[in-house]
Amino acid sequence: MHPSRADPYAEAMDSVQVRPMREDDLASAERASALTFFDAERSTRRVSDPEVEPRSANASKQWIDRMRFCLSVDPGGCWVAVKGDSGSGDVVGFAISQNRGRLWFLATYGVLPSHQAQGIGKRLMGAALDHAGSRPGIFSSSVHAGATRRYRLAGFSLHPQMRMVGTVDRSTLPVVDGLREGRADDFEWMDRLDQGLRLAGHGPDHGYMLGTMRLVVCRDMANPGYVYIDGHGRASLLAAAHPEIAQKLLWETLASSRGRTLVNCITTQNEWAIDVGLEARLDIGQEGYIAVRGMPVPAPYLASGHFL
Ligand SMILES: CC(C)(COP(=O)(O)OP(=O)(O)OC[C@H]1O[C@@H](n2cnc3c(N)ncnc32)[C@H](O)[C@@H]1OP(=O)(O)O)[C@@H](O)C(=O)NCCC(=O)NCCS
Repeated sequence: MHPSRADPYAEAMDSVQVRPMREDDLASAERASALTFFDAERSTRRVSDPEVEPRSANASKQWIDRMRFCLSVDPGGCWVAVKGDSGSGDVVGFAISQNRGRLWFLATYGVLPSHQAQGIGKRLMGAALDHAGSRPGIFSSSVHAGATRRYRLAGFSLHPQMRMVGTVDRSTLPVVDGLREGRADDFEWMDRLDQGLRLAGHGPDHGYMLGTMRLVVCRDMANPGYVYIDGHGRASLLAAAHPEIAQKLLWETLASSRGRTLVNCITTQNEWAIDVGLEARLDIGQEGYIAVRGMPVPAPYLASGHFL
């Protein structure tokens, strides 16, 4: 495109190319992501929130590992915006999305603060949504005004999410029975459960998550459920056939928390989680949206921010 008076963004867009992501973009994309989210979190931070810290070396490595995994499973959903017409410059924006069966999800999306509001995000999102085709979609959305504008214009419904924060009062922890440590041979029924809750199984994402987190399952096939618990003792993804099983899994998670904890991604459809959190003497807060298009909000379910 050539710069013209009719299009004020044309000059900026000319020097930025949107193209499929490659493995050798990962380090530069990670730097762009760390800067973008540091800036976004600082600008939307509430006074009661802790100071925003730059991303740690360990978190940067995890980001690169996760995006390398996405690139290996479904490269068609991974897009970057790079400086320079040759397409070999620094990454200034990224939209990493994935198709799993009938479902599309957006794993992460950002444009460097210095390059925002110039139409780059629109082009990246367009490429990621082309990959979705007519599939229903889901992702966890920030409160950023440019992001939420883009999502609603693309037809997503934005459902506000709550979070429970605080230190668990351990005297409230009930005795939880019927749960076991999960293994790879649980993935088949877990995928069937996911299909009922969010139209598609997590497929290969289970292998990735089991490699990095603890899996706890309820193998009662009349009432199945599972939760991935991260290294801080937080529920990273929870799915169940019935709210009662979901509550057991959440109690098990809260029992393994240390110090201040967080239960994230709670929609009003998932008030079973609020009820557990209140009993454990955690406080209700509000944070971002779950965005869905062509599907209901999953329940009983706490979405993974990364794998939805
Ligand atoms: C969300 C984001 C990727 C959009 O990228 P971008 O390059 O700024 O997007 P665009 O320039 O294509 O603008 C998107 C739309 O929002 C508008 N917009 C952009 N920044 C805005 C802002 N700060 N306030 C209000 N509207 C804004 C644009 O006008 C445009 O709308 P239009 O096409 O109808 O005119 C980018 O702003 C970003 O990285 N934000 C911080 C990280 C984040 O929150 N990511 C989303 C995680 S879910």
